Amino acid sequence: MTKDLSIKDMKLYAKAASIIADLSDLGFAQGSPLDFNEVCKIDQLHYHGVASVQLAIDALAIEKNANVLEIGAGWGGPSRFIAGKTNAQVTALELQQDFNKVAKILTARCGLDTLVTHRQIDFLQAEFKNLKFDHIVSWLALFHIPKRELFTKKIYELLSPGGTIFIEDLMQGSAYKRADVQLLNKELFANSLVAENNYLQGLRAVGFEITSAENMTSDWLTFTSQRLNLFLRTREKFTKLHGEEAFQDKKHFYSKMVEFFSDSSISGIRIIAKKLG
Ligand SMILES: C[S@@+](CC[C@H](N)C(=O)[O-])C[C@H]1O[C@@H](n2cnc3c(N)ncnc32)[C@H](O)[C@@H]1O
Repeated sequence: MTKDLSIKDMKLYAKAASIIADLSDLGFAQGSPLDFNEVCKIDQLHYHGVASVQLAIDALAIEKNANVLEIGAGWGGPSRFIAGKTNAQVTALELQQDFNKVAKILTARCGLDTLVTHRQIDFLQAEFKNLKFDHIVSWLALFHIPKRELFTKKIYELLSPGGTIFIEDLMQGSAYKRADVQLLNKELFANSLVAENNYLQGLRAVGFEITSAENMTSDWLTFTSQRLNLFLRTREKFTKLHGEEAFQDKKHFYSKMVEFFSDSSISGIRIIAKKLG
């Protein structure tokens, strides 16, 4: 019998509090006020950091007072950056309790708690009553969530008419059929990897008009390869701060990402789309 997957099997998520230690090391003592422009250099758990979040802000034209939902907010990095840059109201929804707790602390320290609301819940279970969003954004989170058809429909229904989405996500790669899918799912906590055409078809099926869909695979292979090389060079400093086990966990995760992109087990996409009607 196969053991149920746990999100903590994915080594990127081992220790949510590590960012607090990193901030202290950078000179921001525990509890001290923070500037989101500084924190955003280390709180983004996706590729190309805030450059990608700024792309979303520009592409969706997110404005002051807009109502935004981020699905799978991690440490709350993208949500804080959107709120800080635009004064939009952002709901940062996150499954993991420890990440949500740290995210909330960071948002308060950045003085953004009137703009960013953190909610710890599985997106599939979350109720929003009659709340509708102008924009829904998500970075590298949707592939974690089972029942793709169901959550795609839910995203559509949570948007106001004409509402827009920005998604970066992992998908099946061209050699997915040859991959060890069980291992892949465990390493990435992947619960809904699909091929690119099925991904886009699923969005169109619920009523989205695709504004743009960019295959990010080769870009993300380069990014993850550089990230691994840079990380390996920080060994001494990283180990002093977080310990050898944390170093090995992160090295393992970063290496696996390079391996999975290199052998085409996985691929990546950036999508901008609009709710028709
Ligand atoms: C790779 S991280 C990205 C975090 C953030 N979007 C960023 O880019 O910094 C993906 C996040 O999605 C969260 N997540 C996974 N499944 C989820 C679910 N069903 N509902 C809400 N969040 C989920 C994970 O816990 C994780 O923090």
